[in-house]
Amino acid sequence: MRYHIITYGCQMNVHESEKIAGLLKKHGHKEGVGIDDADIIVFNTCCIRDTAEKRALGNIGALKKRKNADKNLIIAVVGCMTQQKGFAEKLRAVYPFVDIILGTNNLSLLPRLIELNDKKNAVKIEQDDTYDADAPVETFRTSYPNAWVNIMYGCNNFCSYCIVPYVRGREISRKPADILAEISFLLDGGYKEITLLGQNVNSYRYESFDFKYLLSKIAETDKKFRLRFMTSHPKDFNRGVIDVIKSSKNICKHIHLPAQSGSDRILKLMNRSYTSAQYIDLAAAIYDNIDGALLSTDLMVGFPTETEEDFDCTLGLVERCNFSQAFTFVYSPRAGTASANMPDLSAEIKKSRITRLIKAQNKVTKAVSDGFKGKTLEILIEDERDGRLVGRTDNGRLVSVEKSGGQKIGDFADVKILSSKSASLEGVFVGE
Ligand code: 5AD
Ligand code: SF4
Repeated sequence: MRYHIITYGCQMNVHESEKIAGLLKKHGHKEGVGIDDADIIVFNTCCIRDTAEKRALGNIGALKKRKNADKNLIIAVVGCMTQQKGFAEKLRAVYPFVDIILGTNNLSLLPRLIELNDKKNAVKIEQDDTYDADAPVETFRTSYPNAWVNIMYGCNNFCSYCIVPYVRGREISRKPADILAEISFLLDGGYKEITLLGQNVNSYRYESFDFKYLLSKIAETDKKFRLRFMTSHPKDFNRGVIDVIKSSKNICKHIHLPAQSGSDRILKLMNRSYTSAQYIDLAAAIYDNIDGALLSTDLMVGFPTETEEDFDCTLGLVERCNFSQAFTFVYSPRAGTASANMPDLSAEIKKSRITRLIKAQNKVTKAVSDGFKGKTLEILIEDERDGRLVGRTDNGRLVSVEKSGGQKIGDFADVKILSSKSASLEGVFVGE
């Protein structure tokens, strides 16, 4: 049968969809050309914010007519959204035409349930199942020259706004030997960039091996490749990691370090376990020690009780930390989390703050980009669009270059930066 997977949410989910595709291919299914061509439609969902959740539910609902007309169509809903308390029952009641509902740890059951096509037994959401479809041979990778590699699953932090620890369960770190074997397989297969994934990579620990050890072990190879990782938590960021990055030619000088807020009062309510001064210290240590490092972040506005003063502190952090990029979010209450019972701020206040935050960050983003003008930098070419090649600098800036010679996706090339457009740069290949 032909399948189509629709992915919502983060890179973690994109990679999980690659594993689902690998499983389906292993069982003889083929990728369809699009949703209309597919006999199996898999919704790999996300519930971190209500926007992603609403989008998924809308798209599932839109299949009702087609399913009524075509009883052989198989619809599966998997991933984070299904792990919420009472969700499977609710989904069954509202969309009885959904065939299979699986939790994040039960994905390996998907091919078998497709084969059985038996609705009565097609719901499984157990957090303690050990799902580790990391067998590198099976994952159907879609992001060459980059390959995603999970180093850990779950989260122990319980930030008061966040649903992830409830739906993904507690932290489990993978064995270093398995991670190293997967990466070695990928590098032998020609991948040029490895991105390590975890909700909080800095708390990676397997027996006596920590994240610093893992990074230095992975970077220890003669092969030329780029090593990235996400996401880092400021409270667990071990400064020894800075030394490892500094002394390695493979580890990229870009750190994604979500700050969430610049107000100490809000950070405390968020249960983030650091103050803005501690965050600023860490940012300074990164900038001072790693030549050319860039820092990106996640910021949230409209957390319950956030005042204009609190919000001003977040604007202040944007100025102070010179973020190369910020992913900005409007707080949305998630049922079951600690902050869900606190009074939500009005939509007007949230809208006004997110608009001002984006404007402030755009100014910083543009200034960081302008700083690249005239420099010659190495990029890894990742994509080709409209006759132009698109790559990334070591510190994470996107660069678009007119195709002029034999360069192709997966090549490293030197580029002279001529101009900048907010978060991206334009340049020409050097030496032609
Ligand atoms: N509302 C808005 N944004 C959220 N995030 C996590 N939970 C919520 C929520 N309830 C944001 C955080 C996190 C990013 C992945 O999503 O900024 O770092
Ligand atoms: Fe959510 Fe906090 Fe864990 Fe990140 S660290 S996944 S924001 S609970």
